[in-house]
Formats: sequence, structure tokens, C-alpha cells
Amino acid sequence: SWTMPNYIDDAVARIRAEVGDEEVILGLSGGVDSSVAAALIHRAIGDQLTCVFVDHGLLRLNEGQMVMDMFAKNLGVKVVHVDASADFMGQLAGETDPEKKRKIIGAEFVEVFQREAKKLTNARWLAQGTIYPDVIESAGAKTKKAHTIKSHHNVGGLPETLNLKLLEPLRELFKDEVRELGVALGLPHDMVYRHPFPGPGLGVRILGEVRKDFADLLRRADAIFIEELRNTRDEDGLSWYDKTSQAFAVFLPVKSVGVMGDGRTYDYVVALRAVVTSDFMTAHWAELPYSLLGKVSNRIINEVRGINRVVYDVSGKPPATIEWE
Ligand code: XMP
Repeated sequence: SWTMPNYIDDAVARIRAEVGDEEVILGLSGGVDSSVAAALIHRAIGDQLTCVFVDHGLLRLNEGQMVMDMFAKNLGVKVVHVDASADFMGQLAGETDPEKKRKIIGAEFVEVFQREAKKLTNARWLAQGTIYPDVIESAGAKTKKAHTIKSHHNVGGLPETLNLKLLEPLRELFKDEVRELGVALGLPHDMVYRHPFPGPGLGVRILGEVRKDFADLLRRADAIFIEELRNTRDEDGLSWYDKTSQAFAVFLPVKSVGVMGDGRTYDYVVALRAVVTSDFMTAHWAELPYSLLGKVSNRIINEVRGINRVVYDVSGKPPATIEWE
């Protein structure tokens, strides 16, 4: 019968048989899939695995540190931490078009990753956290030429240009199975059950031109929102973070007038977005309690100098999308 410990033993044996004594590189994003793949492959082959974590400067507050703590410190995984935020910001300067921003971020990501991967001259394998729905989706995209509203971050061309064999140990698993596997491998529950985060990160949550000062403001506002969602509990012990499928703050590069103490402020606006959905193709805006929204708004305006107005997005998908870009 199927049990998680048996599954892990089998998966470990398969990875060892496939890889032998060769070395493996994995692009760690901090997301669930690449994290679980890293933990599983590390369980199988230990130091034959090197992870490359590219920080594009568009991650959430303290995310880079969290990834390094979890993998390098706690699990003892070899992780190369590449701080490429200046490169990404440079490439994005002046660009306001959402699709062009995605292309820039995707291309720069491939470039930085390749540069790092080429330094690991012993590597023969590229590991990816591809899961079963990704396999289905890309098969569909090839035959149907799917109509894409937003181009997704895609690192599909990497193995060929790097001349590496592809290792995808999660290819047969659904998302909930990947999460169970992650917990069984010792990853923290909160990490494994996180909301999805887009590949281009805050790059598509800062409307228009991406700037470091905007990203810094947004990170702090977003962290307050998520912290307050996590700090709630209903009768069943569930938080509003658990009850929403995705929640985040969006930076609007628009200034409005406010008043603080005796003075007038003229600062930026943050929009809060929280949705409930089962497939992310359609979504309802989450009916968060007014008291919670009020608390988040007060905290953001009081604690994040530079933001003086907070609004809540009450648009469904369709016609709106979940992200604002
Ligand atoms: P939308 O905004 O299209 O989002 O309703 C649906 C889901 O897809 C995520 N999303 C992305 N994920 N790269 C990603 O990896 C992207 O460019 C991208 N754009 C949207 C979004 O966060 C939501 O979960």
C-alpha cells in the first residue's frame, strides 16, 4: 500500500540509480515545488546537489534570508546565493509594459542562472521542480497553441543550452502530494502551504516602472498584510491566510494627499488583493472582515513612511485578473 515513507524511499532509490555519482544543479526559487525537489534530491544524493538561488530583488521581505536559513543552515544543502538585484533593476529601468517586464525578468533570470551554472563544471544534471499539472499544461500548450493572457516565467530552454540532462523527480505528483512530501522531508509547514508567488515576483506587483524604492515600500506593506492575515483564527482554528488562495499588496505609483499630525502628506497608494479560488482561472475577492482591513490599513500607513492610503480590491476574475499586471 502507498505510504509517504515508502514513497520517499522509492523516490530516493530512483534518483540514486538515475544520477549515479554525477553532480546535479537545481534553481531554487523559494517556491514550494523547487524547494521540495531540492529537499528530496538532497535526501538522495547529499552534496552531489548544488542549488543556485537567484535573488532578482523582487522577492518578499526577508525571503532571501529565509531560503538561505532553511536550506543552507538547517538542511545543510549547498546553496549558491546570487544577489542579482542590481542587474535586474538596471534591465528594468524605464520599462512600464507588463509583458515586456515579464520578458526582461525571464531573460535576465536565464542569463544569470546560466552564468552560475557554467561555473559548476562538474554538473551533468539540471533538476527542476516540474509537477504533474505542469507536464499536462505544456503538453496542451504544444498541441492547442493555448491563448495566453499573461506569459509565464519559463525556463524551458535551459537544459539544452547548458548541455545537461533533466532530472524531474516530482513529475508524477499533484500539488497536494508535493506539499505532503515536503512536510515529510522536514520542510516547515508554513513554507510548504504558502500561497503561490509569481516568477516575476514584485515586478508585476509594482505597476509601471519597477524601482528599488518602490519595491522596498511594497515589501514592508505586503509583510504587514500577510502577518495580520496569519494572526487571525476562526472557530476551526483557520486563519484568513488559510482561507484565502492568494493575498498580497500591490504598489500604485500614484500620489494622493493625506494628513498626518499637523502636516499634509503627499504619498503613494497600496492596494490589497485577496482572492478565493480553486483553479486560479476564476476567482472571487475574499470577504475579509472590515476590522481586519482597518487594522492592516492603520499599520501600513503608520509603519511604512511613503504610503498614506490603502485600498481594497473588490474585483472578481473575470473580468479582472488576480495580479494587477
Ligand atoms: P492572473 O493574474 O493571470 O494570475 O489571474 C493567475 C495566477 O498566475 C499567477 N501569475 C504568474 N505566475 N509568472 C508566474 O509564475 C507570471 O508571470 C504570472 N502571472 C500571474 C498569479 O500569481 C496567479 O496565481
